[in-house]
Amino acid sequence: MKKPWTGRFTEKTSRLVEYFTESISFDQRLWRYDIEGSIAHAKMLGRQGIIPRKDSETIINGLKTIAKEIEAGRFTFSEELEDIHMNIEAALIKKIGPAGKKLHTARSRNDQVALDLRLYLRDESREIISLIKALQRIILNIAEKNIDIIMPGYTHLQRAQPVLISHHLLAYIEMLRRDRNRFKDSLKRINILPLGSCALAGTTLPIDRAFVAKVLGFEGIAENSIDAVSDRDFAIEFLADSSILVMHLSRLAEELILWSTEEFHFIELPDAFTTGSSIMPQKKNPDVAELIRGKTGRVYGNMLSILTMMKGLPLSYNRDMQEDKTPVFDTVDTVKSCLTALAHMLPAIRFMKERMHEAAGKAYSTATDIAEYLVRKGAPFREAHEITGKIVLYCIRNKKELKELSINEFKKFSPSIAKDIYPHITAEDSVKAKTSRGGTAPSEVRKQIKRLKQLTR
Ligand code: ARG
Repeated sequence: MKKPWTGRFTEKTSRLVEYFTESISFDQRLWRYDIEGSIAHAKMLGRQGIIPRKDSETIINGLKTIAKEIEAGRFTFSEELEDIHMNIEAALIKKIGPAGKKLHTARSRNDQVALDLRLYLRDESREIISLIKALQRIILNIAEKNIDIIMPGYTHLQRAQPVLISHHLLAYIEMLRRDRNRFKDSLKRINILPLGSCALAGTTLPIDRAFVAKVLGFEGIAENSIDAVSDRDFAIEFLADSSILVMHLSRLAEELILWSTEEFHFIELPDAFTTGSSIMPQKKNPDVAELIRGKTGRVYGNMLSILTMMKGLPLSYNRDMQEDKTPVFDTVDTVKSCLTALAHMLPAIRFMKERMHEAAGKAYSTATDIAEYLVRKGAPFREAHEITGKIVLYCIRNKKELKELSINEFKKFSPSIAKDIYPHITAEDSVKAKTSRGGTAPSEVRKQIKRLKQLTR
C-alpha cells in the first residue's frame, strides 16, 4: 500500500521501521473521532471554496461509508499505513478517487491527532462523570438505608469515636463529588479545537477555524498553532483526575477488604463478588476489591509515563507523543471498569449491625464526650482531657468500661461530675450529640444526605 508521504524517498521503508513506528494497532480506537473531525474539516474546505463543494460532499459521503464499514467490522487496518489517520485517508482515496486526495488540505496529522484525542477524551470524560454520579447515588442509597448503624470511627486504624456508617459512607460521596468536579473542570481545557494549526505554523489557505469549532461543539479555539500541536497537558490532567479518583476508590476498596476479614467482620461481601481458593476450601477472597486497589498503581503509572515522556520535549510535535495513547486508553478502561465493579458490588454488601455496634461502644470510644461534658461544667479543655485520661487509665487498670463506673468513682476524678454524665457515655449518646455542622449525629447526617441527593440528581 502506498504511503502518502513517499515523494521525497527513494528507498522503501524497512519492515522493522513499519513495525516499530506503527500505532494503528492501538489508535484504531480513535476511528470515530478521526472521521468526525475529517467530516467537519471537509465541510469547512468546501464552504470556504478551498476545494469544490462537490468534492467536499463526495468526501463526506465516502467518510460516512467508511464509518459504517469500520462499525460493521468490515474494514482492514494496515500496519504499512502507520496510524488511524493514514488508514482512513487511504481508504477514502481508494473509495472515491481524486477528490479524496483533497481532504488533507490545510491539515497535518499533528493537529489531526490532537483533535482526535481531545474528541475522544471529551466523550470519555463525560461518560466517567456520569459513572461517578451513578456510584454516588448508589452509596447514598446505602447510607440512607443504614442510617441506624453505628460503627467505630478510626484514626491511625485505632478505634477513635463512634460514628454512623452512613456518615462514613458520605465521606466517600464528598470525595467523589470533588472528583466529578475535577473531571468537569478539566473538560473546559479538553474542549478546545486544535485543528487548523496544521503542522505547527498555520496555513496560507483561507480556513475558518471558528466554523469547525462550532460543527464539532468545541467551547474554544487553541490560539497558538505551535502550542496546539505540542500540548498534551489536557491528557495529563485527565490522568491526574483519574489518579485522584482511583486513589479514593482504592481507599474504599481497602476498607471493604479490611471490614470483611474475620478480625473485623463488619461486613459480608456477596458471593458473586468474591472468589475461592484453589487449595483452601474454606476461603472467600475479596478479589474484586483487591483489584480495584491494585489497578490504582497502573493509573498512577500511566500518568507518570506521559509526564515523563513529555518532559523536556522541544516544541512543537515530536513522534514521542504517539506514546501518549496507550496510557490514556488504559486509564479510561481501568477507571470505567473500577467504577462499574464498585457500583455492582456495593449494594450487595451486608452490614453486621450488632458487631459494628458492639465494637463502637468499646475501647473508651466516648472519652472525648466525657471531656466535652467537663468543658460544659466549666473546665478548660486541657484539664478536662487530663482528667478523662486518668478516668480511662483507671478503667484499664480495673478492667471496667466507662459506663460501669459508679458516680462515686467518677467523683474521685472531678467533683463537678454528676449523675447527668451517664447519658453521655454510650455510643448512641455520643453519636446523637455530634450535631455540629458536618458531624455524625443522625439529624446532621440526614441533612447531609438531603444535600447530596440534590447534588447527584
Ligand atoms: N500517529 C501519530 C501520533 O499518534 C500521528 C501524528 C504523526 N505525525 C507525524 N508528523 N509523524 O502521534
